[in-house]
Amino acid sequence: MGKIVLLDDLSINQIAAGEVIERPANVVKELVENSVDAGATKITIEVKKGGKSFIKIIDNGKGIDKEDMPLSLERHATSKIRNVEDLEHTYTMGFRGEALASIASISNFTMISKTDSEEVGIKIVADGGDIVSAEEVSANTGTTIIVENLFFNTPVRYKFLKNDSTEFRYIKEWLQKFAMANLEVSIKLINDGKIAFTTNGSGNIEDLVYLLYGKDVKENIIKVNYEDDGIKVSGVIGTTLIARDTRKDQIVFLNKRNIKSNILTASSDQAFKGGGTGIGKFGFYILNLDMPANYYDINVHPTKMEVRFKDEEKIFKVFYNAIKSAMLSKEFLGNDEVEEKKADYIEKEYNFMTNHFIKPASIVPTKQITEVKEEKSIIERETKRKVEYKFIGILFRTYIVIEVDGEIYLVDQHAAHERLLYEQIRENYKNNLKNNTQMTLISDVINLTHKEFEFVKENIELFKKAGFDLEEFGENSVKINGIPDIEYRSKTTSKDLFMDTLDEMLTNERSQGKDIEERFIATVACKAAVKANMDLTKEEVDKLIDNLLVLKNPYTCPHGRPTTVKFNKDEFTLENI
Ligand SMILES: Nc1ncnc2c1ncn2[C@@H]1O[C@H](COP(=O)(O)OP(=O)(O)O)[C@@H](O)[C@H]1O
Ligand SMILES: [Mg+2]
Repeated sequence: MGKIVLLDDLSINQIAAGEVIERPANVVKELVENSVDAGATKITIEVKKGGKSFIKIIDNGKGIDKEDMPLSLERHATSKIRNVEDLEHTYTMGFRGEALASIASISNFTMISKTDSEEVGIKIVADGGDIVSAEEVSANTGTTIIVENLFFNTPVRYKFLKNDSTEFRYIKEWLQKFAMANLEVSIKLINDGKIAFTTNGSGNIEDLVYLLYGKDVKENIIKVNYEDDGIKVSGVIGTTLIARDTRKDQIVFLNKRNIKSNILTASSDQAFKGGGTGIGKFGFYILNLDMPANYYDINVHPTKMEVRFKDEEKIFKVFYNAIKSAMLSKEFLGNDEVEEKKADYIEKEYNFMTNHFIKPASIVPTKQITEVKEEKSIIERETKRKVEYKFIGILFRTYIVIEVDGEIYLVDQHAAHERLLYEQIRENYKNNLKNNTQMTLISDVINLTHKEFEFVKENIELFKKAGFDLEEFGENSVKINGIPDIEYRSKTTSKDLFMDTLDEMLTNERSQGKDIEERFIATVACKAAVKANMDLTKEEVDKLIDNLLVLKNPYTCPHGRPTTVKFNKDEFTLENI
């Protein structure tokens, strides 16, 4: 990294710009990324009031030259590139030269820095972007930046901030992800004087997985170390035992930058198919791709995590092979034989898979089915009387078929059960019933990550009112003594019900306040309901249908999907079937 320069207008126009600091977590991200760009191996982040009043980042990187200090606060001032072509071989996180300028312009900003070649450091102080003082101070090599009173001069943006603990959570979550890609950097996060998170810079991903996800996950990961075509893939994938209900724990980095990519998602889905995960489950992985910077274009929008790969097929294949070969390793299968024939096997399967699956499948004659479905609106609301019906049977171990007044109803067993449980839990919840818990014979103690544990603590009332009987059980663990007293048929254990609910709530955190309750209840109902392909006894079917038909609105599940479609006799002409 050379000296800081101002980019010329042409370059500025070619760089997708517009860095926006929306919240304290963005400040932490920009400053921590600058620290690693400066080669820091140790970074301490201290925040107060969720970062709103105070953020301090101390690093042991190479520091900023004395005469560059004021320049660094100018917009488009960077030492990392000179023009857009440089991006083809640039590996730093930053290159736009905007962050320090943006942050300084909306805060009381202090920066102290010293390089190895200088005896003393320089401290500059700026208010709203205007430098008010610059003086020599004694300092270690490295940079310290203090950002106070963020948004003091942009009150509207300040108003949009969430409460301190939520803002802090954003900071912590970002930093934890960052830590996964920067295992050699030791990181310490301090919140209101207390240490919230530290990593030791050991370079060992298993240590970090243990810290963030707990013992169960750590015992079910396999290391990935794969290289092909100039692309290196490293990190961990999870075994079947820790496959998830959501994609939340599919984390990828490209040269240490956290990205989202449809190509990679599609590739991993294919790789996990048939062996890695169950149907409807998502493989767990934390993977970093190392590749030459000219294999992709990162100059997309600054706040987006997108990237454009130049050769998508190559990336797809390498990522696929990396996951597949870890899945076929001895640790995954405990099988020596596979190891030898692995390369051959992967190649064959890849060819088969790309020939058969990636192209849109036209195997299923979907035409008629979709037509019928689209034409049928959801059955209108029925009156609340007991409905007489004739049970015909169960189709595809999924749809209960009944005949009512010359009409045929197809009832989706999962959606219908989900609907019933939802009503039941909500009723209990609203009335705050005391006896809505079914105690388990043996309590389960569950290890959680920091994040999960905090969510449970913050929302303990939700869990309790819905019928969970929980208690804190030492650091990052909870004990489950009981679960909502609802009719079970899915063979969910209390632990699974609890974890699946928690997982889902954490994945979709957008809704806050009032509707978090609705979402919580719907989630518990969904996780507890019978799934497709589960066999129901005749008694269970009767109960399900009896109860369903007397509901006020039985025809959609809590997520709005139909539980039931109906056909009348006229529609059963041979042409239609
Ligand atoms: N912690 C740091 N250590 C050393 N140099 C830094 C640090 N933070 C910022 N700088 C210098 O200030 C410049 C401007 O930083 P920034 O506004 O984030 O732009 P960018 O990172 O895009 O270059 C950087 O290019 C770098 O030279
Ligand atoms: Mg930067």
